[in-house]
Amino acid sequence: MKNIIIFGAPGSGKGTYSDEIVKRYGMGHISTGDVLRAQIKAGTELGKTAKGYIDNGQLLPDSLMIDILADTYDSLPAGQGVIFDGFPRTIAQAEALKKMLAERNHDMGVMVELIVDEETLLARLLNRAIEQGRADDNEETIKKRFAVYHAQTEPLADWFEKEGMRHTFTWYGSKEQMLGDIFAFLDTLK
Ligand code: AP5
Ligand code: MG
Repeated sequence: MKNIIIFGAPGSGKGTYSDEIVKRYGMGHISTGDVLRAQIKAGTELGKTAKGYIDNGQLLPDSLMIDILADTYDSLPAGQGVIFDGFPRTIAQAEALKKMLAERNHDMGVMVELIVDEETLLARLLNRAIEQGRADDNEETIKKRFAVYHAQTEPLADWFEKEGMRHTFTWYGSKEQMLGDIFAFLDTLK
């Protein structure tokens, strides 16, 4: 499978649909949020730095994230395709990803954008707070994450559009339908 960049607001389903895509196409999955949460759990220096940003709903510095992304990418088996979940989140990260892949003679692939209304996003994240207790799933931090998404990440959709990579899927109330639409598109790429 080609590389896939899964893109969307907090709670839009990047992690959920990535898991389904991995099951169907057997590819690698990099969730930068999961990488950082594992570092926090392990109590590393990186984890200590990350915690300050994540608990406050802010993005970590681009330079740090770009290094983490490249190291994680190179640790995966080559040639199977990778889903990038939560990266890139800024134009600088997108340019760095493009350069990193070009240096390895790998293609950027496609961008899958998930559009979900904010009321649904908030309800999902508050529900996950009860089920999983993720530290940044409280209403105050969620609101900051939405604001950061609108200010710093959403403008990237145009960047992908210009690259000819943008494919948008809009939430109409059915997970099966959304997943079916995404699979129907990805099946055409195999
Ligand atoms: P990250 O972990 O990426 O969080 P996020 O972008 O806020 O997104 P979420 O993981 O909360 O949501 P999701 O889109 O994966 O949705 P999910 O499938 O879980 O990043 C966390 C933090 O790390 C950032 O704030 C930042 O500080 C830092 N960071 C990470 N990457 C960075 C980067 N590149 N640069 C700088 N900083 C970075 O779904 C949400 C919930 O909804 C789940 O419980 C799911 O089960 C439920 N759900 C219910 N119905 C549905 C449905 N129909 N479809 C999908 N999910 C559903
Ligand atoms: Mg996620």
